[in-house]
Amino acid sequence: MSEKFERLKAAEQASVCHTYGRYPLAVARAKGTRLWDLDGKEYIDLLAGIAVVGLGHSRPELLSVITTQYEKLVQVSNLFYQEEQVLLAEKLLATCDAGRVFFCNSGAEANEAAIKLARRYMRKVQGREAFEIVSLEGSFHGRTMGALAATGQPKLKDGFDPLPGGFTHIPFGDECALRAAVSEKTCAVMVEMIQGESGIKPQPREWVDALLALRQELGFLIIVDEVQAGLCRTGKFWSHQHYGFVPDIFTVSKGLANGLPMGAMLATEEVAKGFVPGSHATTFGGGALLSAVAAKVIDIMVEDKLADRAAEMGEFCLTEFRKLLARHPDKIAHVRGLGLMLAIELAQPGQAVHRSLMDQGFVLNLAHDTILRLLPPLTIEKADILAFVKALEGLLKAEG
Ligand SMILES: Cc1ncc(COP(=O)(O)O)c(C=O)c1O
Repeated sequence: MSEKFERLKAAEQASVCHTYGRYPLAVARAKGTRLWDLDGKEYIDLLAGIAVVGLGHSRPELLSVITTQYEKLVQVSNLFYQEEQVLLAEKLLATCDAGRVFFCNSGAEANEAAIKLARRYMRKVQGREAFEIVSLEGSFHGRTMGALAATGQPKLKDGFDPLPGGFTHIPFGDECALRAAVSEKTCAVMVEMIQGESGIKPQPREWVDALLALRQELGFLIIVDEVQAGLCRTGKFWSHQHYGFVPDIFTVSKGLANGLPMGAMLATEEVAKGFVPGSHATTFGGGALLSAVAAKVIDIMVEDKLADRAAEMGEFCLTEFRKLLARHPDKIAHVRGLGLMLAIELAQPGQAVHRSLMDQGFVLNLAHDTILRLLPPLTIEKADILAFVKALEGLLKAEG
């Protein structure tokens, strides 16, 4: 590691809360699908800020929106009407079957809004004392107290008791457990259609069919967390569209403003009746500057058909990964993904492989010790994927 890096690391250790286990890389600048470290070394970005910078870094179209809008209006709060917010809401609604949008600032906040809306809708609109939220083991919904209560990973909750009550967790893909967990007290089942943080796991279609049948029978809501899987990443604009149903509520964040912090919760017209003026709010949500940027992001995604591109590139990646698996069945346990949400699960802990890939100029995530997780910009090129596969294969061969 360079002296510059070591100095930055020491300063960070002395000044920033120790909440992150960081990789030994300081990113100094970025453009398109490339990152550069403090010493000017170039990297291929296969992570996109964890599924955030879908359009690639530093897009000139977004820079121009940012500068123009900054001069015009940045933020006035939600006491006022803002054209940019309404325009963004209309653009989002044109991509799906939802009826209304609530804007916020992050994925966790979007999920908080979803949980609050679901409970309030049941009580105030349906007049039912249904408050239980069922979610899945291994799920990740964020770090605020409500989103954390919904998250199905006990280790993330360590030391934070008591969390809000009324949350239960069921094993992934288990129809019997689902049937046993829901009742007339169930307010909502909250689900990622493809679990991201747990290592890229698409929900089995039969499980989703069972969920839809139970919704019909018991009248609970389905909340889909699209924070990681939404916005074209899985090869459709929204991941629930692979399963052909309309969620009552869904949440989005990461890619929405291509790197600027923004979140949103979308709900059907009916369920949105659960919120009235004063029942939920946030100062920054849907501010003019971020809304203008996000509206441009949506335009680009639609015009450049980035969902189709993600589907094609995802197929290309999976084909290459499957070939790699066939050549190294002893080194790779599994490859999987949907669109550009991809995982290569190694047969052994992969810290050394992950570190060497980074040394060779590839930025990606290692999840749960063995899973190489790729969430590249939606603009990634085939040549970059092939270069990555070649580098990984070289490392697997060198392991002997
Ligand atoms: C599926 C999912 N939901 C929620 C979140 C939380 O989002 P944020 O970190 O913006 O609060 C994440 C973040 O990784 C996520 O992947």
